[in-house]
Amino acid sequence: MKVLVTGGCGFLGSHTCELFREEGWEVISYDNMTKYELGRTGYGTEKTRDFNWDYLKNLGVEMVKEDICNEQAMKDYSSGCDYIVHTAAQPAMTISWEDPRLDFNTNVLGTFNVLDAGRKHGIPVVNTSSIHVYGNSINDTLTESETSYVRNPVDIDENQPVMIGEISPLHASKMSAEHYVRTYTDMLKTPSASFRFTGIYGPRQFGGEDHGWVANFAIRAVFGIPLKIFGTGKQARDIIYAYDGAKAYLDYFNSQSPGVYNIGGGPENKISLLECINMIGDILGKKPEIEFHPDRPGDMRYFVCDITEANKRFGFKPSHSPRKGVEKLIKWIDENKDVFDMTGK
Ligand SMILES: NC(=O)c1ccc[n+]([C@@H]2O[C@H](COP(=O)([O-])OP(=O)(O)OC[C@H]3O[C@@H](n4cnc5c(N)ncnc54)[C@H](O)[C@@H]3O)[C@@H](O)[C@H]2O)c1
Repeated sequence: MKVLVTGGCGFLGSHTCELFREEGWEVISYDNMTKYELGRTGYGTEKTRDFNWDYLKNLGVEMVKEDICNEQAMKDYSSGCDYIVHTAAQPAMTISWEDPRLDFNTNVLGTFNVLDAGRKHGIPVVNTSSIHVYGNSINDTLTESETSYVRNPVDIDENQPVMIGEISPLHASKMSAEHYVRTYTDMLKTPSASFRFTGIYGPRQFGGEDHGWVANFAIRAVFGIPLKIFGTGKQARDIIYAYDGAKAYLDYFNSQSPGVYNIGGGPENKISLLECINMIGDILGKKPEIEFHPDRPGDMRYFVCDITEANKRFGFKPSHSPRKGVEKLIKWIDENKDVFDMTGK
């Protein structure tokens, strides 16, 4: 069996490549190796950019440096594959305001090319979407405890209306991609799915202020650099460990059931920013320093996935608690301090 993983050298993509290799698949990582976001983290762009590429090469993953906007290359490299997992994206809301054309080209045109490659070869595609498509009107339904926003009922299923509230270019591009996924399933014989992921975290995530908040907090805490919170810090998510996210793609392939699925840690893995920072402090044995800043437009203060549908259709079940996952993340940061190049920060 052979899978092509777009964005295979990114965070979630690299865990997906690793898992499929472990399962004995041939794996192609198809990634343009953009430095746009990594250049903003301040961690040392070159080392961080090559880290996942070097890691995967050693596992026997085939590496292709190409763009999903290149229609022909997408079709050529996916020839002979049984499955496409599409994780390549412009993933950050902040970057979508600054460069809406990059966001559109990557997330809409790029996803269209990926789906069309799937159609040409008659193979399924899973598109990586985001809970952002629901929009932030959820903010109007919340109360708060001392450390977290609170909602009743706690979790939210796929029947929640989408695109309600303040909408950024990222919302529009992710939602457009989902519409095309449905079109290719309904009319064009490419049985596909969109996974609406909540916050993902784990080793090999070079999270910064644009996206990847758990890793961003953990990296800064390990290096003793103040953490920036935009808003109250009570924002909450059912965070999911990267291995569990990667496993969802494998589970889907084994019992294909086209549709839209919330993929997250579920209600047991709900945690707020403040609670996560406290946990990181507890693991490290030192309290991280925090700076508070005004919240950012479009911010969704709460999302916890009802994951019943993904469990029913393809047996998806997360296996990591935040504590277990964050301990592994911190261990990885500790073992790879030189990669972050924080001198002078
Ligand atoms: N990280 C999260 O918390 C989170 C939450 C919800 C959804 N998602 C979604 O999960 C997916 C993966 O996110 P991630 O956190 O691993 O991001 P990432 O930035 O670590 O990885 C994305 C990868 O895609 C590659 N890429 C970008 N544009 C490309 C292009 N035009 N052609 C080929 N490759 C390209 C990048 O080089 C990068 O390696 C994205 O679709 C993102 O929107 C992530």
